[in-house]
Amino acid sequence: MVIRTNFNEAKTYIFLVEKGMSLAALVPFAKSNENELNGDAKEITTFFHEEKKYVLIGVGEQPQPKDFRSILRSVLFQLKKKLKGEVVLDLKSYQQGRNRPLLEEEVAAMVEGYHLSLYEIGFLKTQEKPAEVHYKLVLQVEESFLEIAKKASEKGKILADGVLRAAHLINIPSNKKTAVRLVDFAKEAGEKAGFSVRAFIGKDEIAKERLFALKAVNQGSTNPPAFIIMEYKPAENLPKVGLVGKGITFDTGGISIKDSQNMYYMKSDMGGAATVIGTLETVARLGLPVHLIGIVPATDNMPDGGALQPSDVIDSYAGITIEVEDTDAEGRLILADGLAYLEKNYQPDVMIDFATLTGSSIMALGYVAAALFTANDTLAQQLYEAGQRSDNRVWRLPLWDDYAKQNHSDVADVKNIGGSGAGAITAAKFLEKFTNNHKAWAHLDIAGVAYADSEFSKMRSGTGFGVRLMVEFLEKWLALRSH
Ligand code: BES
Ligand code: ZN
Ligand code: ZN
Repeated sequence: MVIRTNFNEAKTYIFLVEKGMSLAALVPFAKSNENELNGDAKEITTFFHEEKKYVLIGVGEQPQPKDFRSILRSVLFQLKKKLKGEVVLDLKSYQQGRNRPLLEEEVAAMVEGYHLSLYEIGFLKTQEKPAEVHYKLVLQVEESFLEIAKKASEKGKILADGVLRAAHLINIPSNKKTAVRLVDFAKEAGEKAGFSVRAFIGKDEIAKERLFALKAVNQGSTNPPAFIIMEYKPAENLPKVGLVGKGITFDTGGISIKDSQNMYYMKSDMGGAATVIGTLETVARLGLPVHLIGIVPATDNMPDGGALQPSDVIDSYAGITIEVEDTDAEGRLILADGLAYLEKNYQPDVMIDFATLTGSSIMALGYVAAALFTANDTLAQQLYEAGQRSDNRVWRLPLWDDYAKQNHSDVADVKNIGGSGAGAITAAKFLEKFTNNHKAWAHLDIAGVAYADSEFSKMRSGTGFGVRLMVEFLEKWLALRSH
């Protein structure tokens, strides 16, 4: 992104207007338009003056970084096919007009919004190809802010890339993202960002590694399973964080088959995996001082003659036997192996899993927030706050032991569904058994937020939820630890 302190030759200029801001001071020649603009968020006014185009964008009252991101994403998404050439975002005037210094994180959020707005969901169209974008945003800032703006714009780009990596992976249809293809996508991200990626691939390797629960979910499929291990380790002796993401590339429900009505949404059932891959890419490119491990157990959940059947008892990596009452509760099975593997082989300081795990979490929180589960109050608070800052909101539900008995099995150590209510919670209690009582484990049920309606697509689409949450969380968490 180009950043300059002065622009005269461009043909299009964007001004940001806060509620109550004096437009006359900001754009003197725009006086006649004054009545037309309140400064409400996402309000757009366009006019021409001496052959130049001016776009005034309302940013509301006391906008936070997350507001800049969503406002610029939304407005530039609407305008992107209409803008041409260099388009100057005049932050110099904005800063003067609002009488408060501009912050690096604000500019990063704006730049992120710009890059997010460029995402094109019609990537598989051959007939009506999405129109190309013919403009480039350039920033105009005060001389003294130049260095900060450069850093901010780099960060904004990296964040947008990471969020879009996750969102895009979700948008890819299932036939083009089998478990083995997911390994390639992870490798692509690893090469771009500089983290290592290895994987156990196929039924035999998965069995050899004793990942029996993943193997069981895969047994009704002709597509090989994969267990992906990503690792970013920029130095020795860094704080260690482990992430696990549910990588169900399509969830038919298996023998406990889903009805056809909404099954088609289930290409998004690898949303947790997308979050983990996107987070590794982002954290590595930002160069955060953390040893980050990302685990993705991946397979589709299919119902053929060899498929897992309700009442089957399976083994798991942790050695805990599981009675499978419902093959549609497959996410917790593969996560059980992911969590146990992570804990045993890496002993991370913090362990967080992301999964589109239950319809029940959507019943509880709708499409607004992810359900957060952890027994660790400090971690809960830190994740809550990171959620507010990043606009990837999370809301805590209990992990009380009262719920554990719902997972009781007469024949095995545990059963994979809880029955009678509180489905998101009993799923979390099930997972907890495979964490070896880890002191800082959190589970995020992202069923409602990974794949959602938005102003950027006519149908549901991937959101990239969790990537920004993790960056916000890690930055703060690392800063606290280094004190
Ligand atoms: N992938 C689904 C959960 C889901 C539902 C994600 C809707 C996104 C939107 C999961 O594997 C599943 O089928 N869960 C069952 C569990 C039940 C069988 C205990 C559910 O939530 O109904
Ligand atoms: Zn399922
Ligand atoms: Zn599922």
